[in-house]
Amino acid sequence: MREQSNREKYTPSISVFRWWARRPHALMGAIIDAAISSSGNAAIQVSDPFSGGGTVAVEGIRRGLTVYAQDLYPWPIHGLKTSLGSTSLTEFDQAAEQLVQQLRPLARRYERTDGRLLSHVMRVRVGGCPSCTRAVYLFPEHLISTASRRPDETLGFYGCQGCGHVHTQKMKRAKVTCPACRLIYKSQGRGKTTRRCVHCKHEAPTTAFLGTDRAWKEVLVQEVTRDARGHAHPLLRLVDQRDPTSDLSMQVAPQLALTAPIPAGTETRQLLNAGFTTWGDLYTRRQVEVILQALQHVAALNVSAGCRDRLALAVIGLAEMPAYLCRWDRFHQKVFEGIANHHYAHTTFAVETNLLSPLGRGTLERRLKGARKALAWRESQLETLPCAGSQTVDPAVRLPRLTPGLTVAIGSSTQQALPDSSIDLALTDPPYFGDVQYGELARLFHFWLAQYTPLAAHDEHQEAVPNRSRQKGADHYEEAIAACLRETRRTLKPDGRLVLTFHNRKLTAWKTLGGALHSAGFRIFALAVTRAENDADHSKRGGRGMLNDLVIECVRDDHPPTAVTIVHAGDSPEAQELIAMGRALSDAINQQDPELLPELFRQHLYQYRESKFEARIV
Ligand SMILES: C[S@@+](CC[C@H](N)C(=O)[O-])C[C@H]1O[C@@H](n2cnc3c(N)ncnc32)[C@H](O)[C@@H]1O
Ligand SMILES: [Zn+2]
Ligand SMILES: [Zn+2]
Repeated sequence: MREQSNREKYTPSISVFRWWARRPHALMGAIIDAAISSSGNAAIQVSDPFSGGGTVAVEGIRRGLTVYAQDLYPWPIHGLKTSLGSTSLTEFDQAAEQLVQQLRPLARRYERTDGRLLSHVMRVRVGGCPSCTRAVYLFPEHLISTASRRPDETLGFYGCQGCGHVHTQKMKRAKVTCPACRLIYKSQGRGKTTRRCVHCKHEAPTTAFLGTDRAWKEVLVQEVTRDARGHAHPLLRLVDQRDPTSDLSMQVAPQLALTAPIPAGTETRQLLNAGFTTWGDLYTRRQVEVILQALQHVAALNVSAGCRDRLALAVIGLAEMPAYLCRWDRFHQKVFEGIANHHYAHTTFAVETNLLSPLGRGTLERRLKGARKALAWRESQLETLPCAGSQTVDPAVRLPRLTPGLTVAIGSSTQQALPDSSIDLALTDPPYFGDVQYGELARLFHFWLAQYTPLAAHDEHQEAVPNRSRQKGADHYEEAIAACLRETRRTLKPDGRLVLTFHNRKLTAWKTLGGALHSAGFRIFALAVTRAENDADHSKRGGRGMLNDLVIECVRDDHPPTAVTIVHAGDSPEAQELIAMGRALSDAINQQDPELLPELFRQHLYQYRESKFEARIV
């Protein structure tokens, strides 16, 4: 719980690269420790066929074990290798400083002639009414921001949908008449998919108001001010004419990113619907310029590969801050990344971050600090271990034996490079049904990674998730998971264990997981419920996710069936449901009929809910 409340502090390695649905390091570490102590073997071999953020691999390597990690995608594997790679702090510091110096001239793009510096530029999307064709300014709310972060702040900035004018006034009993055009503000209603024209009252789907030319109007900026001691402070204010709010002209702009198309998809549809067609469209050209020049500088640095890769990942991380996707938290005054809560964001009030600003989230300075912390952590954790570095292998070529240290592979885990019967513990969490579209989200990072290093081929069709735009449903999910687990079974020693973590609110997800375990040749041996999300992240997602994971320990089905051991249940209603589901899965597999799952689940849950029956997994 402590780790989950401040992940960056307890496991700084997670800030090396972004990945979604990472598991708690403390949990994966504890499971590995339990495997070591129950097997009486201090040198177990561990694999993770769905490695993602690399939690299992990092915890295994920290313990000096031999680890094999595979994922379908290059970004997380490149990130994992980088986060475990070695370089000295001194070398890193010098190279980071050099990079910052080299980029300094680009910060001038945000500097006024009087020397004042902008850290952020905020824009409202300008659309048009499909009926009367007049311009509409698509402010999501009347109040676009409080005037400052001060807790006693009484002023706020208000935006007019009719003329785009922004004014300041007291937030209490705010007047709704625009001082510029006298239009009276009318709320569009939150969460509605239609909106009403403020001029002619015509109502149409929101997308019909977006227009085709992706026009934006700059309305607010945040300036960097310095106090007497030289500390930087943010000042949010209206735009004035001397502010450098407009972007570079096409001639000066780097062309490359501007032409690579965003492929269609279930997640990327959000971007295409908003009128973006290339990855470059999401950024201002001055942002693209920073990222590309930084990558060029990094590539040209005379440093070790480990140092270079760490710097490159910090730079590519900047790509999370696209000027036209990032949202502003109007009360806490902070910027949210362009991929938030596992989806591409969509906003009509967007914030451009000056990536070289000394203030604000997601800037180069912040990312270099995070990267340095991760490196210091790595040195403190791994320095004394005889870790032999890492090797990348082709998953289609079987290794005669696994070499000590970390072995990684990119590709579908239906084929793993591991020898037969070599693994003591396969510890993994497969995709949580359709909750996260890893490949589509990773496209953004793959696009930028390819500007730095040749990208390994990868095929989203092999991803074990249902995906409508690829026309893959629950059947595909079940078959893909089954094929990966069948391959994992081949690599397990006869008494080896497969330990999965899983949660989902959809009964179908559990049914397909059960089907996959059964057809891959596993039985359930033991179950535990553990806390996986912290309350804050959970409530951010509107409480729709689950707080707990079910940990499922499996053995090969050549073991005789036994009653499942419940290692830890917890007593919250959610935990009870997960245990009931785990028991039902086990029974269904032992009875060789995954179709029985819904009925078995109901039966097990009745034992907890004597009279009132209510399930949230449906
Ligand atoms: C739930 S995530 C793993 C998260 C990881 N345990 C962590 O803590 O960061 C599932 C992973 O499975 C990967 N994946 C999906 N289909 C795959 C396949 N066929 N072969 C290998 N990896 C796959 C996804 O790319 C994703 O990284
Ligand atoms: Zn109209
Ligand atoms: Zn107005």
